[in-house]
Amino acid sequence: MSRSAHPAGPRHADVLPEGHYTAPPTDLNALDPKVWAQTVTRTPDGVVSVGGIDVKKLAEEFGTPAYFIDEADFRARARAWRTAFGEDADVFYAGKAFLSRAVVRWLHEEGLNLDVCSGGELTTALSAGMPADRIAFHGNNKSTEEITEAISSGVGRIVLDSFQEIVRVAHIAESLGRRQRVQIRVTVGVEAHTHEFIATAHEDQKFGIGLADGQAAEAVRRALALDGLELIGIHSHIGSQIFDMAGFEVAARRVVKLLAEIRDEHGVELPEIDLGGGLGIAYTSEDDPSEPHEIAKALNEIVTRECESAKLRTPRISVEPGRAIVGPTAFTLYEVGTIKPLDGLRTYVSVDGGMSDNIRTALYDAEYSVSLVSRVSEAEPMLVRVVGKHCESGDIVVRDAFLPADLAPGDLIAVPATGAYCRSMASNYNHALRPPVVAVRDSEARVIVRRETEEDLLRLDVG
Ligand code: LLP
Repeated sequence: MSRSAHPAGPRHADVLPEGHYTAPPTDLNALDPKVWAQTVTRTPDGVVSVGGIDVKKLAEEFGTPAYFIDEADFRARARAWRTAFGEDADVFYAGKAFLSRAVVRWLHEEGLNLDVCSGGELTTALSAGMPADRIAFHGNNKSTEEITEAISSGVGRIVLDSFQEIVRVAHIAESLGRRQRVQIRVTVGVEAHTHEFIATAHEDQKFGIGLADGQAAEAVRRALALDGLELIGIHSHIGSQIFDMAGFEVAARRVVKLLAEIRDEHGVELPEIDLGGGLGIAYTSEDDPSEPHEIAKALNEIVTRECESAKLRTPRISVEPGRAIVGPTAFTLYEVGTIKPLDGLRTYVSVDGGMSDNIRTALYDAEYSVSLVSRVSEAEPMLVRVVGKHCESGDIVVRDAFLPADLAPGDLIAVPATGAYCRSMASNYNHALRPPVVAVRDSEARVIVRRETEEDLLRLDVG
């Protein structure tokens, strides 16, 4: 790792340009446990390690960029959700956040269920041995093939998302001689305080069936009338990266109200409600997420209270956390390449990945933190923008952060909290090779998703 001298760029708070940052941190070498996976620490020689292995060794063996996932942390978080909700509830991990066969096995072993939303996710889950009856199948436009595959494999529930789908699923189930357990996804009309693209419970968007205008009640009528369907409950997912429990409370209240209306109209008490996922995680030290036991307590209390006042039996609750389980358990390791100080602005630090391994900054204005991990440094903080190597100026990994002013090409830097929606939304833009995911546990590292190769690219390009 060569180190070359270069001008450090702007450093002091009073000359800093506008940006998404507060003051420089007092200790750039510190690792905030809020944003880093549980076993991440600095070894005595100052190198950051995860699962007992330092990042220099990991970079040597697996290359960069790469995602490293702390298996013990993943299992602990999955278990915490399971324990918090207890035996009378179900926790469905949302596979869209990150899915691989190893992850499916960990979830199975830790007693979680799985939410999938495509034929590909379903196949991955089944091929890793997740029992079909512990799988929920989602999506706003499931294909006939996907529905057929889901029903034939015996998935525990299909979450219906439109009037067409109610009929289509019933028809396919009947033609397969099955009665499919289903839930109906409703939009409860909550404005979740999150980025527009990841809010899903306001009326004007593509998911679910509206509650306020009576469409959801009509969907229930139709589903109850069809022999191919066993309606087991109502589903609501209000959005993602949400910190405020108020939106979930309103959603729970409105879903329970619908259950009472269904009981009054049809004499049926639906046995389940699903309140979706969406709980926020700490991407930077400023974020303060709730713990699973606090979330479970709040949701249980509101559902129990509302059911008591509506004189309903309390339904079995399920939740679908994705990000809150996998997000904090992984980081992306990059090697620093070119460094460009722009006078009076900031220093651009280019890494060997970019928007192809983390699209979230460009897409949602997401904020991340970044640390120098291959050594400690006592140099002054320097305001940086960490950018990728793609042909696009929006190719930003971390918009505003501080790194030590002696940062040099060849240093390793890491972006924590990249476990959710980074590998799963990775692309081959500029024919980048998608990075591997390496699981680290008890001083052992193993690839769970290998790095793409140029042969992989050429294999798809059939000329
Ligand atoms: N359940 C349903 C029905 C969902 O649609 C989602 C996420 C989840 C559960 C899990 O949400 P989580 O707990 O992971 O927030 N790509 C975006 C997030 C899109 C989420 C889509 N649905 C991002 O990177 O922030």
